[in-house]
Amino acid sequence: MSSSFPISLGPFRIEDGAFLAPMAGITNPPFRQLCRELGASLCVTELISCHAVMFVHSRLKNRRKIRGRKLLSLLEKYEGESPYVVQLYGREPDIMADAARVMADSGADIIDLNFGCPARKVVKNGAGCGVALMRDPALLARIASEVVAAVNIPVTAKIRLGYGPGEKNAVPVAQALAQSGVQLVTVHARTRDQGHKGPIDMALLAEVVDAVDIPVVGNGGIQRPEDAAEMLRQTGCARVAVGQGAKGNPWLFRHILSGDAPVPLDERIAICRRHLALYVQWIGEERAAIEMRKHACWYLKGFDGAAAFRKRLGEAVSPDIFHQLLDELVRENPPADPPGAMDEKNNS
Ligand SMILES: Cc1cc2nc3c(=O)[nH]c(=O)nc-3n(C[C@H](O)[C@H](O)[C@H](O)COP(=O)(O)O)c2cc1C
Repeated sequence: MSSSFPISLGPFRIEDGAFLAPMAGITNPPFRQLCRELGASLCVTELISCHAVMFVHSRLKNRRKIRGRKLLSLLEKYEGESPYVVQLYGREPDIMADAARVMADSGADIIDLNFGCPARKVVKNGAGCGVALMRDPALLARIASEVVAAVNIPVTAKIRLGYGPGEKNAVPVAQALAQSGVQLVTVHARTRDQGHKGPIDMALLAEVVDAVDIPVVGNGGIQRPEDAAEMLRQTGCARVAVGQGAKGNPWLFRHILSGDAPVPLDERIAICRRHLALYVQWIGEERAAIEMRKHACWYLKGFDGAAAFRKRLGEAVSPDIFHQLLDELVRENPPADPPGAMDEKNNS
């Protein structure tokens, strides 16, 4: 199915624009909200184990405490997030179905199934989840069918080209998913052994697009708007999903929609402040400052003294200190006058 088709998932009409690919530790509520504000048309939570969902559910049902916030925070959405897309992983069809039902009852709008994660703790150590399931397409299809049957919200899935160079079975796997009732499939156009780096196989991605009647989202290696345009052109995929290219660069979504343009330092600073405010809303001042350090360092590059400035940001312990440092940066780098502004000043 090609990019000229609008995408409808249940009641949701997904507008033009790239998706934000799920990234553990990065695509949390503040980053998802920021990316939507900057033009991403769909964002997905990071992967969550079906066992973790059932654990939280049973503790809450029995009114028992959950120590630490990390697990609970994985399941949070930002106020007004719509659609709220939750990515689940696991290998037991019945537990995946139960977890999907729990999430749907708790407000998830779409369930995304992870069949692409290469992390050792997900794939190996007896877990056999994530991309390992591409080696067992029958089980993968059963998981998808049982989840689809368990919920009355749309179910989507994310796969890779295959487990390894000699095992590229994305076409039959995507066909099996479509037959199971999955409504959209994202294909990370690399194999498991490539991890998150290396060349993209556009030809095989195009074969997947041709082989199924559901929308296919292409993913992998998009750093610039031209990369997105090239993937859409070469493969006919319905949309692209951007992962690492969005880190420290969330305005890429706007550029994919409406053209590349330099992002001046003052705008980066404004986006950094917005991201910090979203973090404060989510986890409070102290933890926001800590979480924002890495993002701020990704945003603020390419000016005189940037490395020394990032070092100071890396030690900021509160949003106030963050803002003081950003104010200082603005004072030292006043925005350039827009073209023509000089003439107006001289005439006044
Ligand atoms: C740090 C990190 C965490 C990731 N976590 C997830 C995840 O939770 N679920 C998932 O489906 N993919 C995950 N991915 C894979 C990305 O969604 C994406 O498929 C991959 O990075 C390739 O796209 P890119 O080249 O645009 O980064 C992760 C990637 C990275 C780098």
